[in-house]
Amino acid sequence: MNPLEDWQNDLAQHARLVMEKAYAPYSRFQVGAALLSQCGTIVTGCNVENCSYGLTICAERNAATSAVTQGLMRWKAIAIATVGGVAPCGACRQFLAEFAPDMLVILIDASNKTDPTIMSLAELLPHSFSPAKLNDYRSQP
Ligand code: THU
Repeated sequence: MNPLEDWQNDLAQHARLVMEKAYAPYSRFQVGAALLSQCGTIVTGCNVENCSYGLTICAERNAATSAVTQGLMRWKAIAIATVGGVAPCGACRQFLAEFAPDMLVILIDASNKTDPTIMSLAELLPHSFSPAKLNDYRSQP
């Protein structure tokens, strides 16, 4: 059963499409991310690998940096498409939490073997490090 609302299915479709753009010749693991801003704009990203493996950039962070580049820093949700519908890595969770710690995360199995799952970023990254914590530190005497 597909538990998603129409707007969530639309976001998922963007994630599926951009997954095909992934540059992943080393892992062969393609990831597509579609981020929805609070004003309703969808910004997408795919993973981009490099022969110097550590330079690889995840799909979620590519979508996030594109959104910020477009001046969009308030986010409602992100859909992530992979074979298997896996959850984002820890680095991407932290990167997203900088801007939208309570956003929705929609996981899409591009092979359609499992149903989409939906959760909040706060569930995926409890007790996250946040800009507010730095501000608390800076305001100490
Ligand atoms: N990858 C992502 O794009 N997002 C994640 O959250 C986890 C991993 C990519 C990086 C690399 O290109 C491939 O998946 C295998 O790690």
